[in-house]
Amino acid sequence: MGKQSEASRARHVAIIMDGNGRWAKKRALPRAIGHQRGVEAVRELVRNVGGMGLDCLTLYAFSSENWKRPDEEVDDLMNLMRKFIKSDLPEFVANDVRLKIIGDWQGLAPDIVAMLEDALEQTSGGSNTLAVALNYGSQNEIARAAAKAAAIGDVTPEAIAAHLDTADLPPLDLLIRTSGEVRLSNFLLWQSAYAEMLFVDTLWPDFKPAHLQEALDNFAQRERRFGGR
Ligand code: IPE
Ligand code: IPE
Ligand code: MG
Repeated sequence: MGKQSEASRARHVAIIMDGNGRWAKKRALPRAIGHQRGVEAVRELVRNVGGMGLDCLTLYAFSSENWKRPDEEVDDLMNLMRKFIKSDLPEFVANDVRLKIIGDWQGLAPDIVAMLEDALEQTSGGSNTLAVALNYGSQNEIARAAAKAAAIGDVTPEAIAAHLDTADLPPLDLLIRTSGEVRLSNFLLWQSAYAEMLFVDTLWPDFKPAHLQEALDNFAQRERRFGGR
């Protein structure tokens, strides 16, 4: 497969990257190593997604509920984030990637906020969007958008959608979750209204670009109805 007709082509795919901990546990390694390998999977995917015809790839990297984890694990995740931005930013710029952050990212540590602001600026001219969900919770996103819609006296689905963090992204076509869990964990609840869903058993560090291509081929076979017939 590979090449799809315009109608069946996925433009916007989002991934709940789950299973780093279990990947490490299976190998009797520390969870931190699982997260490290998870970052490597992200890097490989971003390097290879260019030829897959997407306009936007959205990745769930840290949820607003993930603060509940032990401090040590949260620190590991934040340090990985710092390292990743530093090491991979030049590659994003070179590969025409436009970075976008969704979620309450201003609530992260000040040095990370500063790094992200710089990364957003440096990649603003890119044409393939990589949206990363950081300190993201969908219910909070909807509440913030609804408050803005209410402030202009227009609490309609259209006005709420126009104030979501994803307002400038194409409609979500396909939502993938790895690791065998079948739940949304507060991710893109509004945007998923008519998205296709795919739950795969692969643990995130094992998820390769070929798995994404397989998911896109699977998507292309589906019949979308949006309530019609
Ligand atoms: C996903 O892997 C990474 C984050 C949530 C940051 P997990 O750490 O949730 O891995 P499991 O679910 O425990 O295997
Ligand atoms: C969802 O995974 C969040 C990310 C992948 C960043 P979790 O591992 O946090 O979700 P639950 O707790 O199993 O629902
Ligand atoms: Mg998990």
